[in-house]
Amino acid sequence: MIERACKIVAGALEMLAGVIRPGIRTKELEEYAEAYIHAKGGKPAFKGYRGYPASLCVSINNQVVHGIPSERRLQEGDIVSIDLGVIYEGYYGDAARSYAVGSIGELQRKLLEVTEKALYIGIEKAKAGNRVGDISSAIQTYVESNGFSVVRAFVGHGVGKFLHEEPQVPNFGKPGKGPRLKEGMTIAIEPMVNTGLPDVMILNDGWTAVTVDGGYSAHFEHTVVITKNGAQILTKLN
Ligand code: MF3
Ligand code: CO
Repeated sequence: MIERACKIVAGALEMLAGVIRPGIRTKELEEYAEAYIHAKGGKPAFKGYRGYPASLCVSINNQVVHGIPSERRLQEGDIVSIDLGVIYEGYYGDAARSYAVGSIGELQRKLLEVTEKALYIGIEKAKAGNRVGDISSAIQTYVESNGFSVVRAFVGHGVGKFLHEEPQVPNFGKPGKGPRLKEGMTIAIEPMVNTGLPDVMILNDGWTAVTVDGGYSAHFEHTVVITKNGAQILTKLN
């Protein structure tokens, strides 16, 4: 069931927090994550998805999403975003988190803080009867009021029997607009926040999205289920 898939995602992201350090190669993070997921009886959801070559997306500094694990080593002062999906008994869980590598600069620290808070502000609006635009606009308003920008090129999404389902959940928009949220819906809310311009471009590997202006980018994502009393976060431990 989806709860189990999401727990494995949460456990893997927590495990990675203990492994991330200056000097580690991003490929090693991939190996740790795959071993963890398999040990829990799940399968990585991203590998092979639309031809994506790995189980993790590992995006460093100016990389927004879909960085491919490689021989590159993390360095003190980097920020690194890890996005991870798991399939368990036919259901998908999806979450992401940005981590500090050693001690980081003030701008990077504020970016991580604002992006994570933006996710929780979005989740607060994820309740039955509200509309997708209520989530979108809350995230956008909060991020922009902190002097950062929300990425437009990638959006959150429904998740369940497929990794990407309806509705799309943008991180920008207007309150009261978009599809209505219903009890039992499972959605992935995932603000991607840039310190500079919101615009991104794709590198020649066909996957890695980077900021056009070289600014930093962070990404936090949870899979949540909509209930009468608000959203319950599935991709967290306990
Ligand atoms: N993690 C992305 C999302 O949250 C999807 C990754 S797609 C892959 O929607 F192709 F990179 F696997
Ligand atoms: Co997602």
